Amino acid sequence: MVKIAPSILSADFADLGTEINNVVKAGADLIHLDIMDGAFVPNITFGASIIKALPRHPGVEFDAHLMINQPENNLQSFLDAKVDRLAIHVESTIHLHRVLQQIRNAGVKPAVALNPSTPLSSVEWILEDVDMVVIMSVNPGFGGQSFIESMLSKVEQLKGMIVKKGLSTEIEVDGGVYPGNIRSLIDAGMDIAVAGSAVFNQPDYKQAIQDLKQA
Ligand code: DX5
Ligand code: ZN
Repeated sequence: MVKIAPSILSADFADLGTEINNVVKAGADLIHLDIMDGAFVPNITFGASIIKALPRHPGVEFDAHLMINQPENNLQSFLDAKVDRLAIHVESTIHLHRVLQQIRNAGVKPAVALNPSTPLSSVEWILEDVDMVVIMSVNPGFGGQSFIESMLSKVEQLKGMIVKKGLSTEIEVDGGVYPGNIRSLIDAGMDIAVAGSAVFNQPDYKQAIQDLKQA
């Protein structure tokens, strides 16, 4: 069964605690946290101190997605915020392997994210070192953008790489996921769907998550 990770980027920022409690009640499997620095992407969101203040629910992982340049400079604060998964972008650091190792050593699941134009070959030699690969299916920075169709075969090819290496690395797809395209992504090999607008911009969160899971 596909896991759904609602992105609080599209939630009501004035009432984040309630929003998280409500999507968990509605069936969210993970909570996706989009951290933006205004440099790696043209938008600024929130940092570790906000994450620390958010309500936690047993069994519902905090899935942090760092869209910041040189994440090594701020890594410790996100590790201290006790997220469960921490994704850094391939394009954001020169020493990708070292940063992933630091995340692993802190007891957090390391993950790597790829911009739409970044080739899969960029993760070939670190695939063994991550628990999850995030395929960006929009250009990072904003919620509510349209899914880039060519990312479907990127997911398919990544799944092939993972199977060929005999790994159990999870594939997360982030951006523009809706009930209308989720079936083809699951068939291509996606394990976790990030959903911002498809959950938080809907009137009924439970119905929205059900629509994604049953598509
Ligand atoms: C984009 C973020 C996504 C975004 C997804 O930079 O990484 O997580 O919030 O939002 P939707 O589902 O609306 O495309
Ligand atoms: Zn994200």
